[in-house]
Amino acid sequence: MVEHTTLVTGGAGYIGSHAVLALRDVGQGVVVIDDLSTGARTAISSDVPFFEGNVADDALVRSVIREFGVDAVMHFAGSVVVPESVENPLKYYKNNTCVSRTLVETCVEEGVANFIFSSTAAVYGTVEINPVTEDLPPCPDSPYGKTKLVTEWMLRDVSAAIPGFRHIALRYFNVAGADPLGRAGQSTPNATHLIKVACEAAAGRRDYVAIFGEDYDTPDGTGVRDFIHVTDLVEAHMLALAHLRGGGESLVLNCGYGKGFSVREVLEAVRRYSGTNFEIRGSSRRPGDIPVLIADAEKIRECLGWAPHHDTLETIVAGAVNWERSLKPSNGE
Ligand code: UD1
Repeated sequence: MVEHTTLVTGGAGYIGSHAVLALRDVGQGVVVIDDLSTGARTAISSDVPFFEGNVADDALVRSVIREFGVDAVMHFAGSVVVPESVENPLKYYKNNTCVSRTLVETCVEEGVANFIFSSTAAVYGTVEINPVTEDLPPCPDSPYGKTKLVTEWMLRDVSAAIPGFRHIALRYFNVAGADPLGRAGQSTPNATHLIKVACEAAAGRRDYVAIFGEDYDTPDGTGVRDFIHVTDLVEAHMLALAHLRGGGESLVLNCGYGKGFSVREVLEAVRRYSGTNFEIRGSSRRPGDIPVLIADAEKIRECLGWAPHHDTLETIVAGAVNWERSLKPSNGE
């Protein structure tokens, strides 16, 4: 019997599937709940306990917690596309806020005291100064960022009110790349994220990549982001888990490298690494987008001792391109 078991919600998704691998790699117990709305059953090994369902199903979550002796939750399940959240905010308030509320309530009732929440850098909104520290008052532009921020606030209130219950909200910057051993990567259908889209173009699955906005106040006019390798991000989750299990306090932490790359620089890196010359087209700005967002990554180093190992754009792009090439053609291609 393993000593600790983590419930990974959204474990069949991109980041969640990497977390499942990391937990297994160190011999810890893991159980997954995923409704497969965007994740794939094949993203997790068949010997990992898996339950298809929504984490708002409190009876399901309760029975899983009891059966597996769950003492911690990594809550990845949610909706993550900024422009979609502008068009369909209610979907985001439901999936990112209401569902999380029910899950947290079930955890509190069942005495699960350690909760790690996938938050986002989108909580900051358009900022005057980069890099951003965690104490900057959040001011999200998009419903996506707002729905994640409400859940952060809820967790803060619950942690203050319930003895023993503690949480860590990890504010992801732009997550990309793939497992260095090639066991997992991003397979999300209809992906909108820059590096995934560029890799699809490099693999011949898209005709071109559009740059959404070339008139930002940045060196080359395109948006600038802080890209973090998924393996380094998952390492942050593992350290967060150890911190909470060791009785550590609740925290809100940025997850980024403190370095920015422009959209054009990223596309050129994908072209270079893949050896392809896919078409890049200028296009208008995308609703909800922020011009520049870069993490101040000091707090996570101090509080958790986190030190990244995959923090170059080349490593991130290489893993993403190789993963894309390993995927079987879909949609009849
Ligand atoms: C956003 C959040 C991020 C969150 C992620 C989850 C912000 C600032 N960041 O990422 O914290 O983890 O959602 O989904 O809100 N782009 C193109 N062409 C494309 C695709 C993207 O030019 O085909 C540009 C976008 O306009 C943007 C950049 O690339 O400037 C990154 O976009 P994307 O990869 O979609 O991530 P964010 O929206 O930055």
